[in-house]
Amino acid sequence: MPEDSTHTPTMVTCTAPVNIAVIKYWGKRDKDIILPVNSSLSVTLHQDQLKTTTTVACCRDFVEDRIWLNGKEEDINQPRLQSCLREIRRLARKRRSDEYSTVDVSVLSYKVHICSNNNFPTAAGLASSAAGYACLVYTLAKLFGVEGELSCVARQGSGSACRSMYGGFVQWKMGEREDGKDSLAEQVEPETHWPELRVLVLVVSADKKAVGSTSGMQTSVETSCLLKYRADSVVPGRMDEMISAIRKRDFAAFAELTMKDSNQFHATCLDTYPPIFYLNDVSRRVINLVHRYNCHYGETRVAYTFDAGPNAVIYTLQNHVSEFVQVVRHFFPTTSNGGQFLKGLPVPSATISDDLKNAIGMEPLPKGISYIISTKAGPGPCVEEDSNHHLLGSDGLPKKTV
Ligand code: DP6
Repeated sequence: MPEDSTHTPTMVTCTAPVNIAVIKYWGKRDKDIILPVNSSLSVTLHQDQLKTTTTVACCRDFVEDRIWLNGKEEDINQPRLQSCLREIRRLARKRRSDEYSTVDVSVLSYKVHICSNNNFPTAAGLASSAAGYACLVYTLAKLFGVEGELSCVARQGSGSACRSMYGGFVQWKMGEREDGKDSLAEQVEPETHWPELRVLVLVVSADKKAVGSTSGMQTSVETSCLLKYRADSVVPGRMDEMISAIRKRDFAAFAELTMKDSNQFHATCLDTYPPIFYLNDVSRRVINLVHRYNCHYGETRVAYTFDAGPNAVIYTLQNHVSEFVQVVRHFFPTTSNGGQFLKGLPVPSATISDDLKNAIGMEPLPKGISYIISTKAGPGPCVEEDSNHHLLGSDGLPKKTV
């Protein structure tokens, strides 16, 4: 290595996906190291449509750790960020002392600069913290030469982030230990397992969510007896049923459990005191629309699920996606000419019968849904090999174009 190159930052860029739970995580038994009251299961969404990109640089000239999120410098001292940084540095030192690592130990004492961007609006309630922390942990690990189980580090950034460390269908086993060593994410099946499965994100509102999931779930743990019943007596059985539905690619079973679990999660929000409302009128219309659509066909072709916000995430199969998108267009007509209504994976156009319109029988609501992101299951975090994609320049600062 030439003498001067030590002043040049060492840099790694990675990307990580968003995940959408079909069995929801809601409630912690340990707030500091983020241990949940129940196991959960999610589908990792494809990064072609939704992803976080993170560059981490380290250099002996850097004077402090710094972080920029979506173009704005943020406080690096947030406890969850500090937990992730501390854990990865600890694992790197441990690995170094085990003499497996090829990374120069002096690098571990260098300060880091972190720059992270989403390719979707952060405030749209699209689980940005999951992709964000998964990407941070994965990128730091690559930079410091840490390998192996990392979901328990991502978990300490944001609970749901541990599931974004894998592609496809992923479970987060709640574990039993107090130190959290058995509270880990595990892939149930890879994204290639169910290629017909499709996902539509119906973006209802780009407003920032009213009550954040971290504080919301804490109030639920303190006040909702329904949450305790759910965690102790409902979720364990549902995890088994969900895993079996996925393994068998049994869409009806998968869809029904997904809807029931979303509904029970929102019921625990209503059972929280004071109650938390994440669903709005548009969300409830989507729920009715899906049930009437399924009822018309006498089979479960479409499922909805909602996180801590009003956006609906729809799971369906490839052969129903174009008709269902047309149903959404019909009942939520867009009045704006600018901007695309359907983003992401192309969906062929379709017509819908008067019979179906009558069976759904709702008054169309203009502008109820701002846009749809059409996507599918996808892989876990990846290293970005093209150095042109680094978000930090050789001066260690965010590139101007970002
Ligand atoms: C409704 O992972 O955002 O999306 O652990 O406090 O960061 P923290 O919470 P977070 O909660 C996600 C809740 C959810 C359900 C889920 O993704 O399982």
